[in-house]
Amino acid sequence: MKITVLTGAGISAESGIRTFRDSDGLWEGHDVMEVASPQGWNANPELVLDFYNQRRKQLLEVEPNAAHIALAELENDFDVQIITQNVDDLHERAGSTNVLHLHGELFKVRSTVISTTILDWKKELNKGDLCKDSYQLRPHIVWFGEDVPEMDNAIRLVRETDILIIIGTSMQVYPATSLLQFAPSESKIYFVDPKPTISSSERIIVFAEKASTGVIKVIETIKSNEL
Ligand code: APR
Repeated sequence: MKITVLTGAGISAESGIRTFRDSDGLWEGHDVMEVASPQGWNANPELVLDFYNQRRKQLLEVEPNAAHIALAELENDFDVQIITQNVDDLHERAGSTNVLHLHGELFKVRSTVISTTILDWKKELNKGDLCKDSYQLRPHIVWFGEDVPEMDNAIRLVRETDILIIIGTSMQVYPATSLLQFAPSESKIYFVDPKPTISSSERIIVFAEKASTGVIKVIETIKSNEL
């Protein structure tokens, strides 16, 4: 039984990382294009570096929550694949072993010129921090307007799944939101979000609640149906 899980910022909210589009969202005080686009990077790289330095520092201070942990434990009973829009590493720290990051990773940086040069990086990244070929390093984040190189892999995983669980995402950002349409017609879909943007239907069961409680209910439901 294959379970694919698509997560968004909401799953990390209870760990203390703010979501993007809730009222106290991360972008307050920052125009999205200023801090998360190639244009923003070209216009003011120091601002972008500072923004991600703050995100990286915050990530070092937070921990996975009950939802991340429950998904990691689900691997004991099922073939579980996580597809996350999040750039944090909380799924990995909770113990999930198959995690695909659609939008990059905060604890990685890459060369601005040689895109295959990707380095682990938990400290500050500053102007003058160079790759081995002497090019400036940048956050390993998929910015607005950039390609999503992992999208094809994500589509393949969703196409092969028996169950799709979607957690804590406003489903507003393309192409991630289009993944839903690739779920096989016979698959079951669960959606956990206190302000769900999808309604329940024959195929989709919505749990309109926080990830920490909703994920546990989804898992109980799956186990009572499948095991
Ligand atoms: N548990 C579950 N969901 C929650 C919780 C919680 N405790 N708190 C908030 N949410 C939900 C909100 O109701 C909202 O639907 O999390 C969702 C967060 O939505 P967004 O802020 O839009 O985040 P996300 O969908 O992950 O954004 C997608 O947009 O800015 C880009 O690249 C960025 O990966 C990000 C992408």
